[in-house]
Amino acid sequence: MEKRAELYRGKAKSVYTTDDPERLILHFRNDTSAFDGEKIEQLERKGIVNNKFNAFIMQKLEEAGIPTQHDKIIADDECLVKNLDMMPVECVIRNIATGSLVRRLGVEDGMDLIPATFEFFLKNDELHDPMINDYHIKTFGWANEDEIEKMKALTFQVNDILSKLFKDANMILVDYKLEFGRYNGEVLLGDEFTPDGCRLWDIDTREKLDKDRFRQGLGGVVEAYEEVAHRLGVDLD
Ligand code: C5P
Repeated sequence: MEKRAELYRGKAKSVYTTDDPERLILHFRNDTSAFDGEKIEQLERKGIVNNKFNAFIMQKLEEAGIPTQHDKIIADDECLVKNLDMMPVECVIRNIATGSLVRRLGVEDGMDLIPATFEFFLKNDELHDPMINDYHIKTFGWANEDEIEKMKALTFQVNDILSKLFKDANMILVDYKLEFGRYNGEVLLGDEFTPDGCRLWDIDTREKLDKDRFRQGLGGVVEAYEEVAHRLGVDLD
C-alpha cells in the first residue's frame, strides 16, 4: 500500500490517500486539542496509544456486528481504512450528564441519564459544532431519513456493546461521539473511538480517564489512556 497525498488534516489525525482509491490511511498524531483548537499540546505516545486503542475497539464492534471503516494497523500510529463519504454530523450518546449538556441545560453534573440521551451536532469548527436536529440534517441534505435512522440505531448499539466492555473493566462509559460515512450504499462507523472522543470514569472513584484530563489541566493524560488500554487488555507494544 503506497501512502500518497495528505487529503485532510484534522486536529489530532491526518488522512492520506493511497494507490487504492477505496482505501485511506489515518495517521494518529500526538497533537491534542480542546476548546475548538484554542488549546493544543503535543502529548508523547498519544498517537500510538490511540491508534492501537482504536483498532481494538473497532475490532470488538465488528465482532458484535457493527460495520466499521477500519481495516488494519499498518504502522504504530497509522491504520488503513475504507474510503467513506463522511456525513458532517456528530452523534453523541450520554449515559451520565456532564460537559456541554450540563452547561446547556443546567442539570446536575454526574446524574444518571435514564434512558440515555442522543444528540446530533454539526461538524463545523467555525460555528463551534452547533447542536442540530433530524430536520436540519434532512433539509440541508447532510443525510437522508434512512441514514439518520441508521446512525441513531448504530450509535445506540455501540452503547450497549461498549458500556458492557468498559463495565467489565471497571469503567463507566459516560458519553461519546461517533461519526458515520457512506460506502457502497451502506452506513459505516467511521473516524475513531478513543479516549479523545469519549468520557470514561473509574467505576469506584469516578476518576476521569479521558480527554477531560487535558481539558481541565489535570495532567497524566496519556497515562490515563494507557491505564484504560491496560484494563481492557489492549496490546500497546
Ligand atoms: O462537550 P460535550 O459534553 O458535548 O461532549 C460529549 C462527548 O462527545 C464527549 O465524550 C466528547 O469527548 C465528545 N466530543 C468529541 N468531539 C467533539 C465534541 C464532543 O469527541 N467535537
